[in-house]
Amino acid sequence: HNNILQDLHGRNHGYLRISLIERCNLRCSYCMPEEGVQLSPKSHIMTYEEIYEIAKTFVNHGVTKIRLTGGEPLIRKDIPVILEKLATLPVELSITSNAVIIDKFIDVLKENGVKKINISLDSLDKNKFHQITRRDQFDIVYKNMLLLVEEGFTVKVNVVLMKDFNENEIIDFINLTKDLPIVIRFIEFMPFDGNKWDMSKMVSYAEVMAHVNASFSEEDINRLQDAPNDTSKNYKIKDYKGSFAIISSVTNPFCDSCNRLRLTANGQLKNCLFSSEESDLLTTLRAGKSIEPIIQKAVQAKFKVRGGMDTLEKLQEPKLHNNNRSMITIGG
Ligand code: GTP
Ligand code: 5AD
Ligand code: SF4
Repeated sequence: HNNILQDLHGRNHGYLRISLIERCNLRCSYCMPEEGVQLSPKSHIMTYEEIYEIAKTFVNHGVTKIRLTGGEPLIRKDIPVILEKLATLPVELSITSNAVIIDKFIDVLKENGVKKINISLDSLDKNKFHQITRRDQFDIVYKNMLLLVEEGFTVKVNVVLMKDFNENEIIDFINLTKDLPIVIRFIEFMPFDGNKWDMSKMVSYAEVMAHVNASFSEEDINRLQDAPNDTSKNYKIKDYKGSFAIISSVTNPFCDSCNRLRLTANGQLKNCLFSSEESDLLTTLRAGKSIEPIIQKAVQAKFKVRGGMDTLEKLQEPKLHNNNRSMITIGG
């Protein structure tokens, strides 16, 4: 039996990201256009049974890690059932959330074996948080971050950096890792449909390190070993409990070691975060046909680098990156 999850560049795809919902309880400007996105009709959104069926097929072909994303995955009403169903599969189950309501789900996450939680927090300044998310929820998110740590979860905090906005908070974020065993991950702002991306708004990996080098002495900045297939370059300040990292999809893509596939809430398989091509698994499943040939074809069509935008010049072409969905309906 040949491996349908291996692409033509020899990459194996053992990590499936499933977006559960297109809606969110925050409205981050880097993730969605101000006016919102066109939502799929409800009947086009995968039910929990369909999510389970599709996930099972991927697991049968070698997927060992599933991450639930959104929109905000926890606002989906049947999230407890989805977790219960997926927890019966032999996979590491994790979730990416904005943490606004995660305190209500501590038990259900634990009961279903979720140990690693990635949350988004782009500013430590209440007003800036409100500005970027268009909602006044800083206090609860910060409290929930501490709660997750206290409850024993492995917590990574995603910080999308933007020029003249939160670049001045890099060191404040790193200082959080002095006493908290969390990973702060600075993310280069990436282009998606409707997020008004511009290279000049992005803070690069090199710029982050310039701030770090100006604030800490060289021997205190330790480069850590990255996990296999890691999105991030990891660092730690000597004697700090936590660590920090940079996700540099723009200036240092890590596509060579990519092991990810994405399933959107409306049942489309995306072979790359940046690729606008989608393969309709849900319609095929609903027609009672096998989704395996479609998965195989989609995996084989995967570009080597960033959905074909292999150079910075191509990435900067609006007609290329605006073909893709908005981030809110991909899930990161
Ligand atoms: P781990 O499973 O903990 O490694 O998390 P993750 O980094 O895969 O996922 P998360 O949902 O926390 O995403 C953090 C950031 O990494 C987001 O900005 C994502 O868009 C980005 N990211 C995640 N996967 C990929 C990927 O395959 N390619 C690129 N270019 N970026 C990715
Ligand atoms: N560029 C980079 N990261 C983004 N995210 C959302 N939109 C963007 C973007 N345009 C990140 C958020 C979230 C993760 C899943 O994706 O920080 O935590
Ligand atoms: Fe994989 Fe595409 Fe991300 Fe590169 S840009 S790491 S190929 S998902």
